[in-house]
Amino acid sequence: MEQLLKQIEDYKKEIESMTPGDAASLEAYRIKFLGTKGIVKSLFAEIKNVQNEMKKEIGQVLNDFKQFAESKYEYWKAATGASQPSAINKFDPSLPGDPLPSGTRHPISLVSNQIVHIFGRLGFSVAEGPEIEDDWHNFTPLNLPADHPARDMQDTFYIHKNPDWLLRTHTSSVQARVMEKQKPPIRIICPGRVYRNETISARAHCFFHQTEGLYVDEKVSFADLKQTLYFFVREMFGQDAKIRFRPSYFPFTEPSAEMDINCRICGGSGCNVCKHTGWVEILGSGMVHPKMLENFGIDSNKYTGFAFGMGIERICQLKYRINDLRLYSQNDLRFLKQFIAAV
Ligand code: PHE
Repeated sequence: MEQLLKQIEDYKKEIESMTPGDAASLEAYRIKFLGTKGIVKSLFAEIKNVQNEMKKEIGQVLNDFKQFAESKYEYWKAATGASQPSAINKFDPSLPGDPLPSGTRHPISLVSNQIVHIFGRLGFSVAEGPEIEDDWHNFTPLNLPADHPARDMQDTFYIHKNPDWLLRTHTSSVQARVMEKQKPPIRIICPGRVYRNETISARAHCFFHQTEGLYVDEKVSFADLKQTLYFFVREMFGQDAKIRFRPSYFPFTEPSAEMDINCRICGGSGCNVCKHTGWVEILGSGMVHPKMLENFGIDSNKYTGFAFGMGIERICQLKYRINDLRLYSQNDLRFLKQFIAAV
């Protein structure tokens, strides 16, 4: 009897010292104490060896012990199952947190911001407009009335439901929106996305980005245009950058010129980016056509202006040597992670 009582006491102490924190150790506890071949069962089996008059007393002690072992089991089961004390206990609040990876700016945004910054220093402010534009703002006052053959220069996406609406083909539409509301002096640049119906390849895409500029005031001359763009090119590409103008045609400027810079990839010795000429075209420009000024009620005898438009992808290509236009929109992190903000 005494031996049995002592044993029970020892088991109690053993149980008290335990804290089965997970399902496996809890199951091990159940098998050891409460299983069909467990300790509780084997203790009950000992009763037959106890003197008869003690049987009742020892039965009571054993029942208490069984209840104690069972209630411990239920308590631990609830704790591991519901609130997972083991997982909580393992959490160390003093550890430093996981680092949050920070993103990088898209090269188009980087270059666009840089262009805005450079022209900002010359007093140009940013103007923005809608990407879904009406036919009028995109073409008509820019000297491109309906049926004008030059509309074919830009393969336009029209909105199926209403052909009066389109995806803007250039940000000149923003120039139109500004001239509609504002009187000279006007000095703006218009960065933004534009759309043209082109087959997607390394060299062409159905959307790209532009920054156009417009300066209208008294006595604005072609010399101002040249100096402004020359300043821009040197700020963007370095003081050794060279420019050249070639006569060109745009319906909204007269005279018009395309501007080339000396190839930043090969330095002028010839490569496939400059098609072995040493020069790369980066923008279209010209003196604002007097008719365009008159279209907005601006007196073309008093005011003159210049305008220009460049593709941001082209500037990026020359700055970062990106040779495939598709890379800009594929969202490949290996590509995007290489650009660290300079501005
Ligand atoms: N809008 C022209 C284009 O998209 C660019 C341009 C702007 C040319 C202003 C001259 C003056 O091709």
